[in-house]
Amino acid sequence: MAESILITGGAGFIGRYVSRALLDRGDHVRVLDSFIEQVHADRGADGLDSEVEVVRGDVRDPDAVRRALKGVDKVVHLAAEVGVGQSMYAIDRYVSVNDHGTAVLFQQLIDQPVKRVVVASSMSVYGEGLYRDADGNLVEDAVRRPRSGPDAPWDPLDSKGRPLVPVPTPEWKRPSLASVYAIGKFVQERLTLTVSPTYGMEGVALRLWNVYGAGQALSNPYTGVLAIFAARLQNGQPPMIFEDGQQRRDFVHVEDAARAFVLALDRPQAAGGVYNIGSGVDRTVQEVAADLATAMGRTGIQPEIAGKTRAGDIRHNIPDITKAREELGYAAQHLDFTADLAELAEWVARQQARDRVSQARNELELRGLVA
Ligand code: UD1
Repeated sequence: MAESILITGGAGFIGRYVSRALLDRGDHVRVLDSFIEQVHADRGADGLDSEVEVVRGDVRDPDAVRRALKGVDKVVHLAAEVGVGQSMYAIDRYVSVNDHGTAVLFQQLIDQPVKRVVVASSMSVYGEGLYRDADGNLVEDAVRRPRSGPDAPWDPLDSKGRPLVPVPTPEWKRPSLASVYAIGKFVQERLTLTVSPTYGMEGVALRLWNVYGAGQALSNPYTGVLAIFAARLQNGQPPMIFEDGQQRRDFVHVEDAARAFVLALDRPQAAGGVYNIGSGVDRTVQEVAADLATAMGRTGIQPEIAGKTRAGDIRHNIPDITKAREELGYAAQHLDFTADLAELAEWVARQQARDRVSQARNELELRGLVA
């Protein structure tokens, strides 16, 4: 049966794909979005499906949220500031939008409850992913210490100084909140799972890995690494790789992420659940830089390896997606990374990406947040 779904932050990168997926099956979609400049400089509301009902407003504005919730069956909560690096200096803004914004949403949900709220959480709540030490023991609380010198290893070490090896992280791993952004995502997740059942609603949290695809905000220098690299290459500039480029992530195509949201809205057994959402394949940042340069025909531009860490960054984090598979019926369908990067490159070639990356890096360096 068709439902009425509110997507907060629905004009953003992921929101547009979730909207499309829901419209395609006949749902009514309303979007609450404030169209902030850092994200929407290139297109504003352009390209939003014409059937989407748009409420312009900030998630922190109770009146806007009240209007947006009228007659809604379910909510997808995506409105958030998304830069891990930026969160370490724009602290009040990140806490305000991500933490307080979610509080305002739930305050309004008390008066206008819905059946289910699905929140976009993040793998960043884990901090470092799960590791295994040289003796085969799982290590949940890896942290990386400041490096002692230029030759010191980048990977977290065990108590005997041996490098730990990353393994897929399951949902039961204890959170370790390494950035203001991660703190906010955990708050959003916990508010959703704690408040929803109190008022007869169901809460679900998706811990997303690195989502990529056409439509990512290219001129936002605090967006995901693939969009940043694409904007740099498009402007003939070398991508800047933090650390040594061997840090591992899982890049999940935005259509797969959108499908996960639809499953999380639908599946009865998802109520109260937390799910990792990734592709199931991990890659190093250096590999993806090289693959993207190839896809964009810019192999002549060598990335610059910074040899420095961005404050708040973690070393390795790769997902165990077994629970999403078993309980949501989720499986990534985009598994041909080369083809998906080619599609991304083709889209990027049609865009005007303002390169604000150097400026963003200056902001971080000025504050001693790259070291
Ligand atoms: C990203 C998202 C976060 C999301 C999480 C899970 C951003 C900014 N962060 O965090 O919102 O919740 O995935 O989906 O979108 N890097 C470079 N050069 C750059 C930029 C980044 O080498 O110019 C490196 C980083 O140091 C890091 C890796 O690339 O090691 C990934 O960075 P990023 O794309 O910012 O993602 P996460 O921090 O993994």
